[in-house]
Amino acid sequence: MIAVSPVALEVHDLVAGYGDLTVLRGVSFSVKPGKILTILGPNGAGKSTTLLTISGLTDQQGGEIIINGESQARSRSSRYGATVRSRAQLGLGHVLEGRGLFSDCSVAENLKLGFGKASGPITPALINEWFPKLAQLAQRTAGSLSGGEQQMLSLARAMAAQPNVLMIDEMSLGLAPVIVEELMPVLRSLADEHGVAVILVEQHVQLALSIADEAVVLNRGVVALKASAAELRANPERITESYFAGQ
Ligand SMILES: Nc1ncnc2c1ncn2[C@@H]1O[C@H](COP(=O)(O)OP(=O)(O)OP(=O)(O)O)[C@@H](O)[C@H]1O
Ligand SMILES: [Mg+2]
Repeated sequence: MIAVSPVALEVHDLVAGYGDLTVLRGVSFSVKPGKILTILGPNGAGKSTTLLTISGLTDQQGGEIIINGESQARSRSSRYGATVRSRAQLGLGHVLEGRGLFSDCSVAENLKLGFGKASGPITPALINEWFPKLAQLAQRTAGSLSGGEQQMLSLARAMAAQPNVLMIDEMSLGLAPVIVEELMPVLRSLADEHGVAVILVEQHVQLALSIADEAVVLNRGVVALKASAAELRANPERITESYFAGQ
């Protein structure tokens, strides 16, 4: 794990999109080590674009991204790969749905690649404890797993890389509700016991608010609401209002 900065991730006035299209129009938020931020919002609001921009996979048109206190050069399409690698080395992890697995390699091999040369508090034994199902599937190829099992493996592999900022896009997609419920405490211990800053994009608002510390609602590429998760649990109508803001 890399040296801890008082703020793990900051984005200021982020403007980003795809080619000539601008999707994010001035998005700002920050996450401290050991905290879980959930990004909510209607379909097409810009949630995935926000995570992709932080990883360096879209055209950043304006604003600033700071990872562990280090301001990042803007990513351009000609150097997406180099940008993603350098941000990963800073401790940024990104779980995209079913992505990035080596489908011909076994579950165990995929996890081993996740651990790489990194050493830290997330040990193979801890991954086995958190994902007992993957331990049973260790010798199967990643490509032969079900969608939900692949989703679990993507998550476990991202954790194995000892991130200090972990961004998860739609974790519950394709997973049975019982598995999602089991994974929620895993994310909480990743934050509480290992100081990881977690960013959770979720369609299941109540589920996300049940484990998050802070919440941001995006709507049409701007921040429509920023509040503590506790406040939004007590006043859910504020979320509904923010989903319809500007309609
Ligand atoms: N590769 C792309 N090229 C062009 N436009 C894109 C691309 N990816 C997303 N968009 C557009 O950017 C906008 C924001 O999309 P994004 O995927 O960030 O939304 P989201 O909040 O993650 O939505 P969802 O809840 O449906 O996952 C949408 O209008 C979408 O059509
Ligand atoms: Mg999305």
